Amino acid sequence: MALLELKNVSVHYGIQRGTVKAVENVSFNLDRGETLGLVGESGCGKTTAAFAITRLLPENGEIVEGTITFDGRIIAGSEEEMALPPKKRRKYVENMMTDFRWDEVSMIFQSAMNAFNPVFKVGDQIGEAIRAHDDVTKEEARKKVIELFKLVGLDPERIDGFPHEYSGGMKQRGMIAMALACNPKLIIADEPTTALDVIMQDRVLAEIRDLQRKLGMAMIIITHDISVVAEVAEKIAIMYAGRVFEFGGIESVFERPANPYAMGLLASFPSIIGEKKPLYSIPGSPPDLANPPSGCKFHPRCKFAKEICKDEEPELVEVEPNHFSLCHFALELFNGQLSEVR
Ligand SMILES: Nc1ncnc2c1ncn2[C@@H]1O[C@H](COP(=O)(O)OP(=O)(O)O)[C@@H](O)[C@H]1O
Ligand SMILES: [Mg+2]
Repeated sequence: MALLELKNVSVHYGIQRGTVKAVENVSFNLDRGETLGLVGESGCGKTTAAFAITRLLPENGEIVEGTITFDGRIIAGSEEEMALPPKKRRKYVENMMTDFRWDEVSMIFQSAMNAFNPVFKVGDQIGEAIRAHDDVTKEEARKKVIELFKLVGLDPERIDGFPHEYSGGMKQRGMIAMALACNPKLIIADEPTTALDVIMQDRVLAEIRDLQRKLGMAMIIITHDISVVAEVAEKIAIMYAGRVFEFGGIESVFERPANPYAMGLLASFPSIIGEKKPLYSIPGSPPDLANPPSGCKFHPRCKFAKEICKDEEPELVEVEPNHFSLCHFALELFNGQLSEVR
């Protein structure tokens, strides 16, 4: 049984001028201890998918369709939940998730820099997170915080420091310690290193991966940088315009991509291809999700697009076992039988 399974999940945000369909019909799964890279250009719905899993969507966001199962338990879209009126649903989710968050799933936020409360000491905040879930004394929690500090490469002497006394890198490590505090089964790291300088990025990433392997946690690493995924993940889900365009094992997807968007993304990163050729850049930009194009949401930018792509939204095709592509021509692309039309 998969640790995490999303089945046809759609998330919409209500805005003044209509509805932003931020996540549409998304399905993927993750086993225990596995790492999934969730990639795609900015605005394609990665953070929204993470907030759907952790049930942390803002007031105007709602899971309108689909189910999310975690460790055998339906945490979104259960019959019980869906039978409730929207107002009561929020309270229901709140209650359900109180234990669940941090204990089972924890998240390293995109804006981790501001995730600590400025008026409390960092060590105390992590200690409180531990005590909220484990029945331990203050002293025991403090001991655990010291261990965590060592684990993430923070000097335990800084345990009584305030957030403003920490550098950006230290705060990021603090957030990682916080995410690890309750030994979650799944960690979701949303662009965990974007606020750090390049050298720091590599270090922190390598450390997250080490820790995750050591502790046997599953991880979803969200990034717009596909080369990061090549280094850390076993599976990859490539998102575009709120949809998963390609999903599968790293090797399958990198060696034999079956989707034009995925192919474009792969060709635009040098470290994967390894050859010295000019980097490709996908022309155009992602659509406005409140007013997306007809048919396949990628067709205006796609060099393989045919008539059908303008008219009909494609379905997910399994091109080989556990390797999926959202494209009318997935099989042809997979088999190298399609040529560019522009
Ligand atoms: N609270 C919100 N209200 C309305 N639209 C939102 C909100 N949060 C995100 N969006 C929109 O949802 C889409 C997906 O955003 P997001 O999940 O943050 O993408 P990513 O993490 O891939 O950059 C974008 O079009 C974004 O503008
Ligand atoms: Mg994001």
